[in-house]
Amino acid sequence: MSELNNIALQIISSGKGILAADESTGTMTKRLKSFNVESSTNNRLLFRETLFSSSSMKECIGGVILYDETIKQTSTSGKKVPELISDSNSIPGIKVDTGAKTLANSEEEKITEGLDGLRERLKEYYNLGARFAKWRGVYIISKKYPSQISIYSNAHALARYAALVQECGMVPIVEPELLMDGNHNSEDCFKKTSEVIKKCYEQLELHKVELKGTILKPNMILPGSDSNEKIDTSKVAEMTIKCLKESVPSEVPGIAFLSGGQTEKEATKNLNEINIKNNTNFIMTFSYGRALQQSALKFWSKDLKNLKGTQEVFNHRAKMCSLASKGEWSEKIDKI
Ligand code: 13P
Repeated sequence: MSELNNIALQIISSGKGILAADESTGTMTKRLKSFNVESSTNNRLLFRETLFSSSSMKECIGGVILYDETIKQTSTSGKKVPELISDSNSIPGIKVDTGAKTLANSEEEKITEGLDGLRERLKEYYNLGARFAKWRGVYIISKKYPSQISIYSNAHALARYAALVQECGMVPIVEPELLMDGNHNSEDCFKKTSEVIKKCYEQLELHKVELKGTILKPNMILPGSDSNEKIDTSKVAEMTIKCLKESVPSEVPGIAFLSGGQTEKEATKNLNEINIKNNTNFIMTFSYGRALQQSALKFWSKDLKNLKGTQEVFNHRAKMCSLASKGEWSEKIDKI
């Protein structure tokens, strides 16, 4: 077990965090199309390998979450993608859920699928170089949601996934994401996130998952995107820390937040404040998708040949997130 704890710590300590580059082909196509870039296999690979071979990888990115397509690809330099990542002293990871489907008897909600055949797929990913995995449960917030069916069934699936991942010698990232969509306030987000996280740990413990060899990937506590409530970063940090302190068992080595639709700057600023105020033993870092890639993708879309420039934009963002994971970021050094 100390082996898994070591992997978890390598991914998230010393000012490092996770690059979530595990968008499914459907999601990646949406992201590329939003900047008028064709979503071809080559373009998806080129953008991703450009990030994975950036100079900031060594210092700032402890792990990269890949999608099934990417982990099997060979980069233009001739290196397999997982090797490209390991060569930067970063650890390759893999998204193993197969997506969120309509939850029977609560049709507005979703249940994440992918448990069937998972043991065999994990072995394949391990052989390809993956040493950690990700599974995302997704929850909506409103007066009546998330429902007990969603809270229970997603926690159960996350626990079964986590147990299988550890059996295969990898670290499971446990990601219960309460979406920002809706007009709920921060207090609602706090209460519902706490309930969801507590249920996840109840199930993880029931399934005998060794918590030292896991990483939690939660949302921050924020008002809904259609809410009129305005809260400052200090309040976001206080509520987020309070929620995690009360809901996450102390054996968990660290927490890597998702950005969930926050802008790059907001996600960085909030993480920085969380680390300034962090009075827990948990490492608090980032596992950002959009908040690490958005500016780089925008830059790249204007000239697909300008890989060096794209890397500079990514390096800046990765450095800002790394500083935030140590509480050392400031507005004046963040030029974007
Ligand atoms: P965002 O940071 O863009 O929310 O993506 C993180 C992720 O992996 C969602 O599952």
